[in-house]
Amino acid sequence: MIIIKSPREIELIRKSCRIVVKTFELVGRLLKPGVKTIEIDEAVTDYIQSQGARPAFKGYRGYPASVCVSIDDQVVHGIPDRRKLESGQIVGIDIGVQLDEYFGDAARTFAIGEISPKRQKLLKITEEALYKGIDKAVEGNRLSDVSHAIQKHVENANFSVVRDLVGHGIGRKLHEDPQVPNYGKPNHGPRLKEGMVLAIEPMVNAGGYQVRTSDDNWTIYTQDGSPSAHFEHTIVITRDKPEILTKGR
Ligand code: MF3
Ligand code: CO
Repeated sequence: MIIIKSPREIELIRKSCRIVVKTFELVGRLLKPGVKTIEIDEAVTDYIQSQGARPAFKGYRGYPASVCVSIDDQVVHGIPDRRKLESGQIVGIDIGVQLDEYFGDAARTFAIGEISPKRQKLLKITEEALYKGIDKAVEGNRLSDVSHAIQKHVENANFSVVRDLVGHGIGRKLHEDPQVPNYGKPNHGPRLKEGMVLAIEPMVNAGGYQVRTSDDNWTIYTQDGSPSAHFEHTIVITRDKPEILTKGR
């Protein structure tokens, strides 16, 4: 069942999302060659807590950290550790916040120093694909119109969309109905309605779409070792343009 949020609930989700955006500003300043990913996690934990909020991922199904940091062929759910960032890497950062019972969730992939043209294209296409999906997230459209728009943009660029992980509804729970796949035929699935809140999050591989889970039981890697990017926004469906709650300035 897809929960329609009241204006009051949307305002609470908006507040959580605002903290997510502010946390990204902090992380953006921190991301440099030589920084340990655990240092990013510590800064994220401290900042979110300083806002009277809770890092939403910590303890979620046993996840041990506040932020997911996924480097190069790590698709998502990378666990921060003592590894240092290096120039040429791409680093996915995924941040969730819970404030007053309501969640906000967003992800972006950053370049560390100079990256190859292929990686630059991967970041650009993945972020564009997210916005192509968001453009379709309007009342009256069907859910798979979002999925299809994402897949089309990615495959036109000769990249591939990860199938095994999806976006999601969000509200009083981090993951609510519906699941939001990043691929599929248009004009399928539930009709979108004003007041639905979705986290749309394409994961895009430069090579094949297949992924595997590492021995830590969290980190998802591309099967072929190709680099992967991830962008995510929490949005609200309205009668016309969706409101992007995790958009920076
Ligand atoms: N944005 C991701 C998701 O919606 C982040 C979850 S990480 C986890 O699934 F650790 F909380 F699982
Ligand atoms: Co999410």
